Formats: sequence, structure tokens, C-alpha cells
Amino acid sequence: MADTGAKSDMRVLVIGGGGREHALVQKLSESPKVDAIWCFPGNAGIAQKASIPNLASAEPNTLAEFASAKGINLTVVGPEDYLAAGIVDVFRARGLAIFGPTQKAAQIESSKVFAKELMKKYAIPTAAYEVFTDFPSAKAYIQHVGAPIVIKADGLAAGKGVVVAQDIDTALTAAEATLSGDEVGEAGRRIVVEEYLSGQEVSILAVCDGVSCIPLAPSQDHKAIGEGDKGLNTGGMGAYSPVPVINQAVERKIHDSILIPTLNALRQEGIQYTGVLYAGLMLTKDGPKVIEYNCRFGDPETQVVLPRLRTDLVELLVAANQGRLSSFGSLDWDPRASVCVIAASGGYPGAYTTGFPIDGLEAAVGALPDIYAFHAGTALRDGRIVTAGGRVVGISALGDDIQEARDKVYQAMERLRFQGMYYRRDIAWRALEKS
Ligand code: AMP
Ligand code: GLY
Repeated sequence: MADTGAKSDMRVLVIGGGGREHALVQKLSESPKVDAIWCFPGNAGIAQKASIPNLASAEPNTLAEFASAKGINLTVVGPEDYLAAGIVDVFRARGLAIFGPTQKAAQIESSKVFAKELMKKYAIPTAAYEVFTDFPSAKAYIQHVGAPIVIKADGLAAGKGVVVAQDIDTALTAAEATLSGDEVGEAGRRIVVEEYLSGQEVSILAVCDGVSCIPLAPSQDHKAIGEGDKGLNTGGMGAYSPVPVINQAVERKIHDSILIPTLNALRQEGIQYTGVLYAGLMLTKDGPKVIEYNCRFGDPETQVVLPRLRTDLVELLVAANQGRLSSFGSLDWDPRASVCVIAASGGYPGAYTTGFPIDGLEAAVGALPDIYAFHAGTALRDGRIVTAGGRVVGISALGDDIQEARDKVYQAMERLRFQGMYYRRDIAWRALEKS
């Protein structure tokens, strides 16, 4: 086998503390090349697999000093806010290896206007749109185009910046509230008003080295709180992989007409994109179109994609950092399907109470083989694992097909308990409806 460049005594730092980071830590811990793992800020589940340092702050410089002191040779960043704040630039300036895009490259997620202008300039398929900073112009455009129509805040808004309006009044209210700063603050001072796309959504997480990329297995997430994908948007209530509507021809089309053109476009703009490029796509009757880019692994997509990955994740990430993806070869996937369902605190995504003891975590994982409990908002208090966030735990399972994986997750879920626990019972319904 070719020398992959990943040392066998790798010391790895993962940044973040949700289900995505727990899945990253789990997969990295399975690598024979990884010697030690730290995670900051982590959570109660991550603490069982990684050391959680006690740091004075979450500032990039503090994290970089820690990475230097511990001799860490690879840092992997989960959440977008660290990337948008320039953590990659700070680490690289100190000669520290870190997997993720620079602050400039992270604009692909942190500014929707940046992303849309890039796609327009380089003819990357996406919804038609206009950008507005004042309500009267936005109003005229919305009335001209008609509903359904989509209103998006330019900046990061923790999933709350998008309104898919089915009628003009809803669109006008959203545009006005967003522009006024009342809805999502400064992130909404510029808005994108865009064409409504219909079709199935799919998430493609592509590992990129600036020039080439290797897409991970496709997945689909469920953002809405309610069954049938109804109700308020959340950080994600569940996911599954693979996605039956995606075949190899569609995968190739996504690679050739979206992923590579995006990397080329960024290079033309002087940006070498290294890290995960997450393309949120709508499979329209005119082919796949970009709904949004994210500059990182998806959550909860990572919790279904990584359990299926057999290739050593650390080798893949090191190859990306060293610009060696074109010779990396193809990834080895577990042919089985995976499903993840999130158990959330009652009330989420609105107000909820935390601090409730969580029972049955071990019983849930032990219910059947190949089940994982990826912690999101959990903490250790007086020796007990308690709820500490809106999304609390994601149960993922592998099964021969999506139906079997889903049945396993729900069997495991029945063993999990905390006060007010809520989860959707219909995750992966689109895939099952299709088959
Ligand atoms: P985002 O936060 O950009 O992922 O948007 C949240 C959700 O809004 C997406 O997952 C889609 O379901 C929906 N959405 C965003 N843009 C569009 C669009 N142009 N047409 C239809 N639905 C959209
Ligand atoms: N699952 C959507 C996201 O990670 O943004």
C-alpha cells in the first residue's frame, strides 16, 4: 500500500461538542493510526472516548496554544462558528495541521450573498435570486415573482435565517422582520430572496483538498420538528444514508456539475478550499441544484455517514490537508444502510428545561449489534449523565436496509428515557415510501 503520510502515533484534537463531534471522535478512535484524542468542549458521551481539556476560553488562540503544547498533529473542526471566526487561519499561522476551510473559504456558509454570487458568476446550478438591503425593493420583487418564494438572511443564523413562504404575506412579513434586525440581528441586514425549488433534498459532504474532492455517501436529514417534516426547523431531528433517489449517474453529475465547479470557482477567486464542502441540494426535474453550502460536516448527517465508512478517516483527512486526494483512490463503504434519530428535550426548538437524568443509554446501545448513542446536549453531574441541550442524544444503527436500520433505532430508543424526551417516529419515511 502507498504511504499515506498519516503517522501511526497521531494525536488528534476535535473541536465541538455535539453528536457530529461524537461521531467524529468515535470514527477517529477506530483508526490504528490514532494514539490519543482530545475534544473541546466535548460532552458526557465524548468524554468516554476522548480527553476533555479544561481551557480558559474557546478562542482560536487558546485552542492553538493547547494543540501546540500537546503536540497535536491533526485538529478537526466541527461547528461553523469556529471556522467563520478564522480558527484555521490561526492554527496554520502557527504551523499546526488543521482540517477545515480558512475564514475566507468559510464565507461559502457564513455569507449566503457570497455563495449566491459565486454560483451566479460561475454558472453553478442554483435557485434564481436577488439580494436586498431595504424592504421596499424586496417587497416589489416578492410581489413581482409571487409565492411560493424563499427569504434568507445573509449571515449565520443558527438555522433560523430561512423562511420558505407559501404566500406573499408570509414572505413580506419575513423579509421585513429579517431586514429590521428583529429576527436574526445583524445577520439579516442583507437578505437573499430566491426562487422556490421543489424536489427531494440531499446532503453531500465532500472532503476537499483545494483542487479535488471525494464525496462521502449521500444522506438526507429531517430538519423539521414534527412528523411529515412539518413544524419549526431544528438543527436536525434525524437522518439516513444511503439515499435511494441517488444513483451513480446522479452522484457523478453532482461531482462534475456542482462540486468541482465550486472548487474551481473558489480557486479563480483566490481561495483554496480545504475541508468538508457540504452541498445541500435539491434534486429538481432540471437536475441537482444548490440550496445552500455549509463549510463543515453536517449534523446529524455525519452520525449516519461515518458509521458506514470503512476507509480510515484520519488517512482521508491527512490526504486532504496534503493535497493528495486525486491519488487517494475510492472510499470503502459498508453496504448496509444507517439511520439516526435524535431524542430532544421537550419544548425544543422553543424553550426547554435541562438537567434531567438520562437513563438507559447502555441498554439502548446494547439492544442489538451496531447501534451507537451519539451524545449532543449531555453533561456529567454528580456522576450522572444529564440533559444539557435541545438535541440530547442521537441513536444511530446499521441494518441490511433502511427499514431494518430504522427498526433497530426505534427498538433502542424505547430503552432510553429522560423527562420530556421527544423524538420523531417517521425518520427516513421518504426512502421507505419509495421502496
Ligand atoms: P437552509 O437553512 O438554507 O438549509 O434552509 C432550510 C431549509 O429551507 C432547507 O433545508 C430547505 O428545505 C428549505 N429551502 C431553502 N431554500 C429553498 C429553496 N430555494 N426552495 C425550496 N426550499 C428551500
Ligand atoms: N443538517 C444540517 C446541517 O448540518 O446544517
